[in-house]
Amino acid sequence: MGICKLAVVALYQRECSHGANPSSPSSFGTCETGTIMLSSVAVAFVLASCVLARPTVTVRNSPITLSFARRINATGIQNLLKIDQARAKEIKNQSKAQRHNATSAAVFGVPATNQVVDYILSVGVGSPPTQFDLLVDTGSSNTWVGAGRAFTVTSTTQTTGDLVEVVYGSGFVIGEEVIDQITLAPGFVIENQSIGVAIEDAGFDGLDGIIGIGPTDLTCGTLFPDETACIATVTDNAFAQGLIDAHEVGISFEPTNTLESTNGEISFGGIDTRKFTGDITFVPITSSSPANEFVGIDQTITYGAAGTPILDTTAGITDTGTTLLLIASDALSAYEAATGAVPDNATGLLRLTPAQFANLESLFFTIGGTTFEFTANAQAFPRALNTAIGGTNDFVYLIVGDIGSLSGEGVDFIDGMTFLERFYTVFDSAGNRFGIATTPFTDATTN
Ligand SMILES: *[C@@H]1O[C@H](CO)[C@@H](O)[C@H](O)[C@H]1NC(C)=O
Ligand SMILES: *[C@@H]1O[C@H](CO)[C@@H](O)[C@H](O)[C@H]1NC(C)=O
Ligand SMILES: *[C@@H]1O[C@H](CO)[C@@H](O)[C@H](O)[C@H]1NC(C)=O
Ligand SMILES: *[C@@H]1O[C@H](CO)[C@@H](O)[C@H](O)[C@H]1NC(C)=O
Ligand SMILES: *[C@@H]1O[C@H](CO)[C@@H](O)[C@H](O)[C@H]1NC(C)=O
Repeated sequence: MGICKLAVVALYQRECSHGANPSSPSSFGTCETGTIMLSSVAVAFVLASCVLARPTVTVRNSPITLSFARRINATGIQNLLKIDQARAKEIKNQSKAQRHNATSAAVFGVPATNQVVDYILSVGVGSPPTQFDLLVDTGSSNTWVGAGRAFTVTSTTQTTGDLVEVVYGSGFVIGEEVIDQITLAPGFVIENQSIGVAIEDAGFDGLDGIIGIGPTDLTCGTLFPDETACIATVTDNAFAQGLIDAHEVGISFEPTNTLESTNGEISFGGIDTRKFTGDITFVPITSSSPANEFVGIDQTITYGAAGTPILDTTAGITDTGTTLLLIASDALSAYEAATGAVPDNATGLLRLTPAQFANLESLFFTIGGTTFEFTANAQAFPRALNTAIGGTNDFVYLIVGDIGSLSGEGVDFIDGMTFLERFYTVFDSAGNRFGIATTPFTDATTN
């Protein structure tokens, strides 16, 4: 078909062209017909409509289980902490009211560095499907493609006339919102999914986009001109279309010490009972803002047999889009004091000598009354990758890092993937709750 015509000129400038004033400084402002201002980015666009087509739907029993991969870009890894901190900053600044008017400095002042550790799911879009490698993200909820591989219009593509903008801290995307069919696995096809097609993006080298599986509310206000709209996520649509029986996503990932490894599993529509040991502890999503807009929980962290306090009970988030385990600066100081860890200039991470590491004790995370042990080995960055991250074999580098601000600001920790890969976790969006359980890899000595 190829009838959609899209002519886009992205103008990186603060003001609309020809001196026109934005109608609303607090959001997308209309400058003149055909020209809109996306925060500080003016985009002139022409959209022509596409012909509508009818895909078929296949109903399957849930849950549907998919493999996903971890990929590390070793050349970019020195930025790991900075990227995670930039994302943390954007998460803390998040609120529905502000989603669109983050100041230019806040948005574009962050260097558009590359993701260095990606958790990737291959997703088909259209019919016949084009496969895209998408970052699996519980910390955002828009799904979009086209950062790397170009989007191809097929018979299932429909335009919406909306543009979409999402800012991630370490990057952003501005795109055209379309409706299309999403194939997550053979026969598991979500119809009429609203997704973004990137026009401009930064920070996503090596990736084609994001599959956002966080709370639906995170999509509200990301479209223009349909500014009040929210977008049903892939989980929402899979559930609404009867493809899955439960409105939840389970994630498991085995720790790995190789640069690229496909040993993650994501299950839509229920938990995979083969992937955890014991019971799942479920807790309600925290009531503290802004953590409550994400997969936010309350947790307490102590260190060692003596129970040295690291972080008193407070709110934070679990996030597959963050690599490290980030804790508030004051909590990190307590961790450094307890462990003897010092910042390492070469890698940006904390480090220990092998002798100190031999004495490193477990961290204990109390979530919903259950205490989860996070072993010394789990706190180490895989030692087989020390030189790949610019370090040496004389040290053990740690995955516990500084969130970049003091506790008490509503997001006092981010349990990123290096934490999550030691546990099985569940985001139950219908029940507004988070679940966590131990796995055969909780105590693994992989690192
Ligand atoms: C968002 O807009 C409101 C109202 O215009 C303003 O008070 C607030 O400071 C803005 N926030 C940011 C982050 O720019
Ligand atoms: C939001 O971001 C701006 C710019 O980086 C910063 O000055 C401000 O303190 C942040 N606000 C919060 C609540 O973190
Ligand atoms: C998709 O949208 C079309 C109309 O645009 C509708 O006829 C069809 O039923 C929808 N499919 C699903 C599964 O909702
Ligand atoms: C890896 O990181 C380097 C340095 O930041 C960057 O130039 C390169 O594009 C990245 N490659 C991928 C595949 O992300
Ligand atoms: C690490 O960097 C800081 C500031 O850049 C510097 O003061 C310190 O001497 C450096 N430490 C080492 C061990 O290079």
